[in-house]
Amino acid sequence: MSERCISVKMMGPMLEVDRLSVVYGGILAVDEVSLQVRPGEIVSIIGANGAGKTSILNAISGIRPPDSGEILFEGESIGGRPAHDIVARGIVQVPEGRKIFGTLSVKENLRVAAHQNDRFVLRHREHSNIRNMFPSLMNKLEQLGASLSGGEAQMLALARGLESKPRMLLLDEPSLGLSPKLTEEVFELIRRLHAQGLTMLLVEQNVRQTLALADRAYVLESGRITQHGPARELLSDKQLVYNYLGISAPV
Ligand SMILES: Nc1ncnc2c1ncn2[C@@H]1O[C@H](COP(=O)(O)OP(=O)(O)OP(=O)(O)O)[C@@H](O)[C@H]1O
Ligand SMILES: [Mg+2]
Repeated sequence: MSERCISVKMMGPMLEVDRLSVVYGGILAVDEVSLQVRPGEIVSIIGANGAGKTSILNAISGIRPPDSGEILFEGESIGGRPAHDIVARGIVQVPEGRKIFGTLSVKENLRVAAHQNDRFVLRHREHSNIRNMFPSLMNKLEQLGASLSGGEAQMLALARGLESKPRMLLLDEPSLGLSPKLTEEVFELIRRLHAQGLTMLLVEQNVRQTLALADRAYVLESGRITQHGPARELLSDKQLVYNYLGISAPV
């Protein structure tokens, strides 16, 4: 086991979700979900459409307050706090469907993120990491958000999330709708961020690639966690892989 793994194991959770419930008009979308993310980990939530994955992320990031349960970030209760307060603590969500501004240029999209966090963007030194990770975006700084391809828009959403200097990134289906090649690029980027020590909670339907990348995973079905454990163990669970991919796992 690497040193990094040992130190991650010994540290307490960075994020602790305890019996979180989210209700929409009487319908229980998230039902007493408990999960933990330790510093430096990639933790994944896997589940079918409508399982409640986005609802969990939205409760953590303050987009929609939890109906019950506790959310602790570095030991402090953040459940129900306003989204700007949660961003200021370093939790940044890259939303499903990208939500970039189509009428703003790539550069302006990045600038908005940095202003939201009271930091000025495109300072050369701080920007170099992003420049390095998104070389193709750097050639399109003046291009409008609406003119980007699906893959480029996803890269911009990720770059914008990183501009906010996250301590924990919440990623909501970053590979949704992307070609296999672009999906691989997004996963490679997540791998690089992991290697840099960034803590991530990753929601995905791309089960096999996600389990190959994550440290641990939780399986969500109709708002409830039905399984959790080291990602590699879940990956070798033939029934789970069958349920989510509809094909038999290789023997
Ligand atoms: N604003 C809302 N009002 C009413 N119901 C909602 C709302 N948002 C989500 N739901 C419902 O809550 C359940 C969980 O939705 P959620 O978006 O969290 O699922 P998900 O796992 O992210 O799904 P997907 O994979 O399709 O993104 C679904 O049944 C959905 O229809
Ligand atoms: Mg969703």
